[in-house]
Amino acid sequence: MAILVTGGAGYIGSHTCVELLNEGYEIIVLDNLSNSNDEALRRVKEITGKQFKAYTADLLDKKHVSDVFSENKIDSVIHFAGLKAVGESVSDPLRYFKNNITGTIILCEVMQQYGVKKLVFSSSATVYGASGNVPITEETHLGATNPYGRTKQMIEEILQDVYRSDQEWSIALLRYFNPIGAHKTGRIGEDPNGIPNNLLPYISQVAVGKRQQLQVFGNDYPTRDGTGVRDYIHVVDLATGHIKALKKIQSANGVDAYNLGTGKGYSVLEMINAFEKATNQKIPYRMEERRPGDAAICYANPLKAKKQLGWQPIRDIDAMCEDTWRWQYNNPNGYEKVSELNKDSNYPVQQHAADFLSS
Ligand code: NAD
Ligand code: UD1
Repeated sequence: MAILVTGGAGYIGSHTCVELLNEGYEIIVLDNLSNSNDEALRRVKEITGKQFKAYTADLLDKKHVSDVFSENKIDSVIHFAGLKAVGESVSDPLRYFKNNITGTIILCEVMQQYGVKKLVFSSSATVYGASGNVPITEETHLGATNPYGRTKQMIEEILQDVYRSDQEWSIALLRYFNPIGAHKTGRIGEDPNGIPNNLLPYISQVAVGKRQQLQVFGNDYPTRDGTGVRDYIHVVDLATGHIKALKKIQSANGVDAYNLGTGKGYSVLEMINAFEKATNQKIPYRMEERRPGDAAICYANPLKAKKQLGWQPIRDIDAMCEDTWRWQYNNPNGYEKVSELNKDSNYPVQQHAADFLSS
């Protein structure tokens, strides 16, 4: 029996595929590659030394999704596939509602048709909005403030209703805080399209020389140093959270939301410092106005996931920055092409990655 991973070629999906394969799961990936590159899947195979089937398919294409279920014995689904850029969701909300919500409905219809009722869903801390009450528990009031966030909140509600209608379903709603970092080999990582919106991809592109300087959005927040505070979590810790959630949904029916965060908050300036330490170089930055819609401070209370899933993140902020940097340095243009510059590099972290691969 296999685990279907929708969006498995993406940032979090590819890291979760590695952890699933390392744990001995059989996986099948379904991804339309709209925001990813199949090179990521090739590298997942390279890292793990394991093979798996991957379908280039769109969740909106019901026939294709049904074919994937009819051709394989699928036990459970981890559902990452979705669009995730907040700004784009504001300018093109219909695309976001169609892709994320209709895509999820089609997936659930096909799952129901094939009697597959175990689902781990990628939600987001964005469902809590920007109220600023911290730490955030799963009971904190929901109030997404943009179309992207509303797709997540609506999908959570749809999945609650699906369970209410049929209690054979078993669903975990995983609310991620701020995923950063990369696999320690430096072979897979986050590969944003165009100008990055999120802090760490932007800082690392400044560090690698692709962008001149970071803009710090606001230094007048009521925080330690005036800059925004977030709960950054290593993507590999996030990936192991999915395996714990998968085990939980195998053992009990129901629908439950879990915060996946570390419970610690770091400011933008603290992240710049941590990144400077990891890279041993200065990150130029300038202060700018606040970014509309940003909360001052956001971090999780992750106790429910610890108690009920037996999950705890183990990688600290230094590891998050070192791993982000190893990925960025070795792949300055993401999956598009490996830099000529780095081909003969004796950069120590690349060496480390080579050691890891051969061990
Ligand atoms: P990503 O864009 O790297 O991965 C998403 C994948 O889904 C991509 O490979 C894309 O090609 C695929 N996809 C999109 N629409 C599809 C469709 N209709 N059919 C098939 N494939 C489709 O994003 P990510 O960072 O890996 O995020 C994974 C999930 O986690 C998303 O649902 C995202 O909203 C959620 N999430 C991400 C973050 C974050 O900061 N990265 C935070 C909270 C929640
Ligand atoms: C953003 C999204 C959120 C999404 C999350 C994870 C917005 C309004 N929110 O949240 O929906 O769930 O990413 O993908 O886009 N910062 C800078 N300069 C930059 C970029 C960011 O100073 O160039 C600051 C931000 O103001 C914030 C912190 O860094 O204080 C983190 O920003 P970011 O990585 O975008 O994450 P979120 O704001 O948490």
